[in-house]
Amino acid sequence: MSAMLRVNKILRFFVKSVLPTVLTLGVCTVVLSGCGERPPIEVVQTGFRGTAMQQNYNPRYLKTQVAVNTAPAALEAASDDGPRAKDVYQNVKVLGNLSVGAFTRHMLSITQWVAPEAGCTYCHNAQNFADDGKYTKVVARRMLQMTQNINGNWQSHVGKTGVTCYTCHRGNPVPAKYWYAPSPSKNSGGSLADKAGQNQPMKSVGYSSLPYDPFTPYLLNNQQILVNGNNALAMTGDKANRSSVKQTEHTYGLMMHMSQSLGVNCTYCHNTQNWQSWARPQRGVAHYGIQMARQTNVDYMNSLTDVFPANRKGPQGDVAKVNCATCHQGAYKPLYGAQMAKDHPELLSLAPPAAAVMTSTLPPPVAEAMRSVLYFDVASPVLKADQQAGLAQVIASLAAAPGSKAVISGYHSASGTVAQNQELAKQRAFTVRDALVAGGIDASRAVLEKPQVVEANAAGEDATARRVEVTVK
Ligand code: HEC
Ligand code: HEC
Ligand code: HEC
Ligand code: HEC
Repeated sequence: MSAMLRVNKILRFFVKSVLPTVLTLGVCTVVLSGCGERPPIEVVQTGFRGTAMQQNYNPRYLKTQVAVNTAPAALEAASDDGPRAKDVYQNVKVLGNLSVGAFTRHMLSITQWVAPEAGCTYCHNAQNFADDGKYTKVVARRMLQMTQNINGNWQSHVGKTGVTCYTCHRGNPVPAKYWYAPSPSKNSGGSLADKAGQNQPMKSVGYSSLPYDPFTPYLLNNQQILVNGNNALAMTGDKANRSSVKQTEHTYGLMMHMSQSLGVNCTYCHNTQNWQSWARPQRGVAHYGIQMARQTNVDYMNSLTDVFPANRKGPQGDVAKVNCATCHQGAYKPLYGAQMAKDHPELLSLAPPAAAVMTSTLPPPVAEAMRSVLYFDVASPVLKADQQAGLAQVIASLAAAPGSKAVISGYHSASGTVAQNQELAKQRAFTVRDALVAGGIDASRAVLEKPQVVEANAAGEDATARRVEVTVK
């Protein structure tokens, strides 16, 4: 589709989404993109004539907007056949249930979306792809879960359109738009002149004199946005009217950011005759957007505080966080509603927790009079119920020969790091010792013995390698 056609399509969208609206007072709409611009400006009515319910566009800007908001084509879908990634690779914690083909397609896609110039080594140590040494890989794994959470749990905002890494990254390792808590304002007027975080021209609030950090209160903390009080008077006690001009200024700071990020005027979400009204459906969608951004910042971005290096943090040492602009980048829907996510089913819902992903079919336990072998799930020291059956014989033998001891040795498979595996093997041996003690055997008769040789299978995961052997001696 040519750029001009797309522009027309977008303009048509606004015309079509016109809502019948009630009378608007003579309102000075805060005309954002229209202010002081060279003509021609296109005006699209979204309400009755004369009500000032309109959106202003500058076709020149729209053209560049369309160019930066075009989604890349998806790679050809991969077959779901063949072994799972978790059985072939060593350190796959989120995408373990994908086929190797789908996993590789995902790696190619994120490289295109996030690091097309640096390539795979932006996140990987070229000598060992399983290594988590680069912080970018650890961040990317968490972002993977963050994207799944947005698509799976916030359909109230992202609908079926959803998001991919590209929605925010657009081919850059660091998205163009994000925010940090600002440095405490320098006070030129002395200690009495508290500027209350305002009267300083800042892009975040469209260079207005509004408080320039509208993000910390609303997109990180859960401060109230609504400003209409229920009482006309100030009142006292528990009837005190908390709504104030100062509070309203913070709300307006956020509203400036929201309008700017979506490239729309206030009237896209409000009928300015009644700011309190929720009649325009876009306001409802925006309401969930605020909550989604807040949860994303609190549960995902903040959890990476120790992972990011100092040079990627803000003046207060906080991590970069998302706001409306991170995804929208000037468009009423990110990428003008291009549906990228549907081609990436791995991003549509949260992968089950690692333990569940790792569950596999285990061989039956070995249950002989003097020897038992119990098998374990990948990365798990938990003894599954069907493996416990292997203990009964050993417990009976120990009970029949009071002078005997149980020698317990834990083993692991080849995947994962040496340190992790030794710890895992030890934990598995502890689990079995505890199970024997729970079965009535005195702890002094359960002896842990580190295996002399660990025959690691080179081919990655082998269910018969993840085991504990118990011998009655
Ligand atoms: C933006 C960061 C990023 C880029 C770029 C990237 N990867 Fe990955 N890669 C990851 C993450 C995160 C994982 C772990 C996924 C998980 O835990 O589910 C991973 C895991 C892997 C693994 C599994 C290694 C193992 O044994 O555990 C392979 C293989 C791999 N990537 C190949 C590639 C290739 C090939 C490229 C380039 C085409 C690439 N990756 C680009 C982030 C990245
Ligand atoms: C909602 C927006 C959003 C989405 C979706 C998103 N990211 Fe990010 N990502 C960010 C922000 C914000 C940062 C922080 C920027 C910085 O590094 O300071 C970031 C940082 C990163 C970094 C570290 C870059 C660096 O050099 O510091 C990597 C790697 C990354 N993201 C990978 C991914 C991958 C892979 C996906 C998809 C699975 C993804 N992101 C999805 C917003 C997003
Ligand atoms: C993208 C949609 C959107 C845009 C654009 C927008 N708002 Fe809002 N506005 C909202 C939402 C959503 C709320 C309610 C916040 C909440 O509680 O979730 C709100 C609340 C308000 C309130 C408080 C109303 C009350 O009930 O107390 C005022 C006042 C307001 N906006 C003014 C503005 C102004 C002025 C602009 C233009 C600079 C603007 N808004 C642009 C979505 C929007
Ligand atoms: C994680 C990315 C992301 C973030 C962050 C985000 N949005 Fe959205 N938003 C989307 C997607 C995707 C859609 C398209 C949903 C659809 O097609 O149904 C959308 C749609 C909307 C719409 C509906 C537009 C329409 O015409 O129907 C509004 C309004 C909106 N967003 C406002 C906001 C506001 C305000 C914020 C910040 C508080 C915000 N969004 C933050 C991804 C995001």
